[in-house]
Amino acid sequence: MEALRLILLYAHLIGFALLLGASVMQYLTGKTRINQAMLWGVSIQLVTGIGLAAPLRGGGDNEPDPIKLVVKLLITVALFAMVFFSRKREEVSKGHFMAIIGLTLVNAAVAVFWR
Ligand code: HEM
Repeated sequence: MEALRLILLYAHLIGFALLLGASVMQYLTGKTRINQAMLWGVSIQLVTGIGLAAPLRGGGDNEPDPIKLVVKLLITVALFAMVFFSRKREEVSKGHFMAIIGLTLVNAAVAVFWR
């Protein structure tokens, strides 16, 4: 299932770009409101991440550490809640917004450095 895995990984990177790019851009406007691209980004990360967590590399030692995947899933569920349930607020606190950016960066670090 190498083709499927690569398509999911491609979509996963686009979701990451959307979530981080839209969050940083929004923060720089000075109005910390959840925007539509952030909601798309975090939703894409959740769906494509769960897809990627399937044993698509033939199983065994080639698969990523399951504990790593659980950590990423928990962080992403928290991120999804922070984006989804605040999406209609006129503005959220700077702390809430910085936590979204921070947790996104933490998850990317977990993805890259946890081998
Ligand atoms: C904000 C949320 C997330 C971010 C920023 C993120 C970031 C990344 C990045 C940058 C990669 C590429 C790593 C590489 O190819 O070297 C990646 C791969 C991957 N992600 Fe995520 N991810 C997120 C959520 C998730 C979730 C929820 C899961 C599922 C539990 C997941 C599972 C995976 C898997 C299985 C791979 C490919 C294999 C690996 O390198 O571990 N990700 N992720």
